[in-house]
Amino acid sequence: MESVSSLEEWRRWCEAVRRSGRTVGLVPTMGALHAGHSSLVRAAVDAGDAVVMSIFVNPRQFEDVGDLSSYPSTPEEDATVAEASGVDLLVRPSLRQMWPRYPEPTPTTVRVSGVSEPFEGEARPGHFDGVASVVAKLLTVTGPCRLYMGEKDFQQVAVVRQFVDDLGFAVDVRACPTVRDEDGLALSSRNRRLSAPGRVRALALSRVLQILARDEWTPGAVRQHLRSVLSEADLPLEYAEVVRPDTLEPWPDGSEGVGRILVAVRVDGVRLIDNGPVILVKGA
Ligand code: PAJ
Repeated sequence: MESVSSLEEWRRWCEAVRRSGRTVGLVPTMGALHAGHSSLVRAAVDAGDAVVMSIFVNPRQFEDVGDLSSYPSTPEEDATVAEASGVDLLVRPSLRQMWPRYPEPTPTTVRVSGVSEPFEGEARPGHFDGVASVVAKLLTVTGPCRLYMGEKDFQQVAVVRQFVDDLGFAVDVRACPTVRDEDGLALSSRNRRLSAPGRVRALALSRVLQILARDEWTPGAVRQHLRSVLSEADLPLEYAEVVRPDTLEPWPDGSEGVGRILVAVRVDGVRLIDNGPVILVKGA
């Protein structure tokens, strides 16, 4: 595995890969790597890509300064995990290269309306502007590639797909399934902040998604079931909605198909998000 920090070396490496006839696979991360991140690398390796992983804790997507300063940093472990997973080029760009004016605002922002507005967009104002801006910059340096992202952050994938499409990036966006611990909890760097009892309570989140994935439901029954299970588990709900997977608009009553359930709860002061598919029917 090679490691670089300069945008120019990174750009040249990707150009050389494409000249040799291979495809670049980009896996953007903020470090604190776990098996969820490794699964994205594996998907790129399986597709035959030359795999670039970026590690950059992007301050522009943290609306809460405390959240940014407490973001875990495990650089040595990250390099080991990246190499073991099959990364060919590890890029750790500096803040100075990514956002030279920071903490002054960067004049250019990529803002996606529609899909970025509800749910996480409402709970974390400005968050998706930061995400879209940084991913656009990572893609600009990388050039034409496949982009691997986790379904764990379902709305994030929708936001990225939207601007990739609208702005004509030569990028094939691939969403990969959520990796979970054995007990069902979706892997997340935030899980480290949960207490032992908090972690047990949080399991209601994946459990209810598992139950809802098994059967056919009306949208009303999905909402009702989510609310009752999560309140029984004493998990303060931020949102729980069943939506169209592409536009993230509420699933219309009376229409049938496969929807997506998006949920956010708060446990021990930690926001946890999860999502899963559900088959929707009209009902009796
Ligand atoms: P980060 O939270 O480090 O996540 C990097 C990638 O790993 C994202 O695409 C995320 O969806 C995916 N991921 C996280 N947990 C996962 C899990 N349990 N299973 C599968 N994939 C998982 O998301 C970001 O960083 C940033 O917003 C970023 C896109 C890098 C832009 O700064």
